[in-house]
Amino acid sequence: MTSNGTPEKTGAAAGPNRLAAAFGRELSLASRSVHADDYTNSHTAVAPPMHVSTTFRYADDPNELLPWSDFDPARMDNPYIYSRASAPNTTRYEAILTSLLGGPVVSYASGLAAFHAMVVFLNPKRVAIGGGYHGCHGILKLMHKLNGLEQLELEDDNDLAKLQRGDVIHVETPLNPTGEARDLAYYRRKADERGCYLTVDATFAPPPLQDPFKYGVDIVLHSGTKYFGGHSDMLSGVLAIHPDRAAAAAAPGGGSWPQGLVGERLLLGNVMGSFEGWLGVRSLRTLELRVLRQSESAQRLVDWLVASSQKKENKADGGSNVIAEVVHRIQHSSLQPEASDPESWLCKQMPHGHGPVFSLWLKSEEHAKRLPSKLFLFHHATSLGGVESLIEWRAMTDAAVDRRLLRVSVGVEGWEDLRDDLLQGLQALSEELKN
Ligand SMILES: Cc1ncc(COP(=O)(O)O)c(C=O)c1O
Repeated sequence: MTSNGTPEKTGAAAGPNRLAAAFGRELSLASRSVHADDYTNSHTAVAPPMHVSTTFRYADDPNELLPWSDFDPARMDNPYIYSRASAPNTTRYEAILTSLLGGPVVSYASGLAAFHAMVVFLNPKRVAIGGGYHGCHGILKLMHKLNGLEQLELEDDNDLAKLQRGDVIHVETPLNPTGEARDLAYYRRKADERGCYLTVDATFAPPPLQDPFKYGVDIVLHSGTKYFGGHSDMLSGVLAIHPDRAAAAAAPGGGSWPQGLVGERLLLGNVMGSFEGWLGVRSLRTLELRVLRQSESAQRLVDWLVASSQKKENKADGGSNVIAEVVHRIQHSSLQPEASDPESWLCKQMPHGHGPVFSLWLKSEEHAKRLPSKLFLFHHATSLGGVESLIEWRAMTDAAVDRRLLRVSVGVEGWEDLRDDLLQGLQALSEELKN
């Protein structure tokens, strides 16, 4: 507090709760994206400075010297010592995400680095996991090599019955690559029945699309490379810890969960770079704008594809219907049966729209392989979540997937332009394959 009793505007004394104290309520997600890190400002510059230093000077006054062993690694206002422990740009990134995700955030060099750190921290003997991003299965295989960790099938009740106290149920929702959602309340009940942790990879539906903590999820993981970065130019991984877990001093090995994770990150060395932290802060400022726009455009494209594929002929297509001719199936959480019932778990879990990624199965592998090169606006590339729309013949990076599948990540271009690009590409493909 200042001498006249108002909350401090900046500096460590102001603290992360400064805005809520000043307004008497929590600010909107959009405002917190721009201001949740204001309390870390130590300079008058409006745009955050970039600090590339790996090492930081100790206090000049010998009486203020605080040896590393005496401070709490999870506090945001610790003095900086060495960037493998913490650094100013990644601290800002974590401060904003802590506010947006609703629990303390620890950042990592990539989404997979975060998944690895989470498994090392929870140290389960078994992990039940479904389909989804294949890299996470790869990490579990590595853990099997190291300590015999067993991988179980999430959608097999006999496998879930093998879970024991301290094991993990890991759910990805929405799923990579189809964009279909999974019911988190259902898996929370399953985890409670077996005394397990529930962890969720929420990469495909960042805020404001869903809040997994409402369903009692213990740790929420994001590949920050996708929507948090949002511009296809940085790698990042994020673990957010449920506030109740974070408050309890119950980390395996003692201390709190954030302390445990930060302490282990110091040893694993899997920190984000300072430049990535700086880019991440730049990107988070527009998270809500981007995500809502991408979600809405994806919905319009899915609706258009579904409606067009059901018509006998399509006016925009000169009387024929190339979509019905070439597209075999479309998958997205908005097409799950529950999506039409406002009281369903799905509508409650994703109240602000569906994810910006969906999948298309074309009639043959040859169709799927050839469509991307016919498009002008969609880049043929892997990854997702950036401002640029991407399409990927998924067989390029996932050996296990149906070879007719194309994954579509919708960017921030005008949706009508994306629609027209898809239509002309499908027409060109159909002509080419007729000849
Ligand atoms: C759902 C999901 N989780 C995790 C990852 C891994 O993230 P990263 O590439 O940042 O390591 C990805 C990458 O595509 C993903 O799609």
